[in-house]
Amino acid sequence: MAYSMAIRVCKTAYLNGTIEVQGSKNTVLPIIASTILTDGISVIHNCPDITDVHVMCELLKILNIKIFYDNHVLVINTSNIAYAPLPYELTCRLRSSVLLLGAMLGRWGRAEVGRPGGCTIGTRPIDIHLEGFCRMNADINLNDSLLCCQSFQLKGCDYKLRYPSVGATENLLLAACGAKGTTTLRGVAKEPEIIELCNYLSAIGVVIEGIGTDVLNINSPNYLKNADYINVYDRIVAGTYMLIASAIPSDIILTGIDDVHYIKNIIKVCARLGLNVAGANNTLRIRSFGDVIPGDFSTGTYPEFPTDLMPVLIAILLNAGGNSSVTETVFENRFSVVDELKKMNGRLCVKDDTVHIKRTERLSGNVVLATDLRQGAAMVAAGLMATGCTTVMDVSYIERGYENIVRDLSNVGAKISYI
Ligand code: EPZ
Repeated sequence: MAYSMAIRVCKTAYLNGTIEVQGSKNTVLPIIASTILTDGISVIHNCPDITDVHVMCELLKILNIKIFYDNHVLVINTSNIAYAPLPYELTCRLRSSVLLLGAMLGRWGRAEVGRPGGCTIGTRPIDIHLEGFCRMNADINLNDSLLCCQSFQLKGCDYKLRYPSVGATENLLLAACGAKGTTTLRGVAKEPEIIELCNYLSAIGVVIEGIGTDVLNINSPNYLKNADYINVYDRIVAGTYMLIASAIPSDIILTGIDDVHYIKNIIKVCARLGLNVAGANNTLRIRSFGDVIPGDFSTGTYPEFPTDLMPVLIAILLNAGGNSSVTETVFENRFSVVDELKKMNGRLCVKDDTVHIKRTERLSGNVVLATDLRQGAAMVAAGLMATGCTTVMDVSYIERGYENIVRDLSNVGAKISYI
């Protein structure tokens, strides 16, 4: 991870080379949280070197968990784990801190956890998480900065989520590991991150039926063992580079794509945009002439196109040979990319939940802000396409999830550097 203030990115004519895709942020964070349910040493391989992972580890240390991180290997020793409240000052630095509620409830039947933070992309309520905990027999107490949950005995229940929330599914899975009897969760999220978490929980001894479907049945023994985990590649990071390669003449190899199935939805959209994608032996070769095909796109829950790639998709559609639109269906306020792209002369506007994008021949470099993780990546993508150079400020947002976007894009010949 490179701690820096800004990224300078200049128009780049051709991208060629290899990018090793980092491990997945949104997969590894719930798995780190779930080690709270175990006693002993767990080793997580291919763990990305990003701020969100390091803050999560700081939170675990408050529970007297020993952490060792080196070269993408995270060792977590829960042998002397002890209950403690988790302060808002740290929990507010990432969204996934909310998962510590479920993990602590599952382990101790109680949790006092500061409210979560994360990217400002909508109101991001947690009513589904809390309703599910209540259905498992937990009492909830909330104030402005602290979430408190307590249960004399968590009990299995039959609960239907009103929306397939990724975070709520993960949190309820973790709490269900401490519940007596069977927990049935209906209408759950089916994202690859959920499948990986279910597989990990199965490895530590939880019995889960229905993995990959929208109904999960969970039964947990009293004692859970340790298990090591090899993290999957980050499908959103891979997708970011695929979208960029659609808009700039490219011949790139992405390595580390150990399960191509998880990225099929993204490949489908990139193919529509004109990207040629060929996969073999955990790699993807992505090639294009940089002629983006315009179209109308929509985000959705898995296996639809992920909302996390929406800002990058919008940026690269400015290069398309006609008018396009992108409709966002997951978050109600994820359009900060529009104002920043306008500063680069981008011709686009928001109407309701849809961004309308016109081909922008005069996209030009400027000083712009990263306002959240994926929007920041979109501004880097725009900088590669725009005439002149662009300075993207507030890089700390990007470093929450991209290990080193400058290193990755430099490796394929992009004119990009930290300043
Ligand atoms: C996860 O966020 C990801 N974050 C997000 O990625 C991703 O955009 C999102 O899932 C959707 O795929 C992590 O995994 C850490 P949700 P999460 O709960 O769990 C509403 C990134 O850039 N909702 O599925 O917070 C909510 O308001 C991040 O890496 C409720 O109404 O997403 C939203 O509209 C950003 N009540 C929708 O559901 C609830 O209790 C989806 O949210 C929970 C959610």
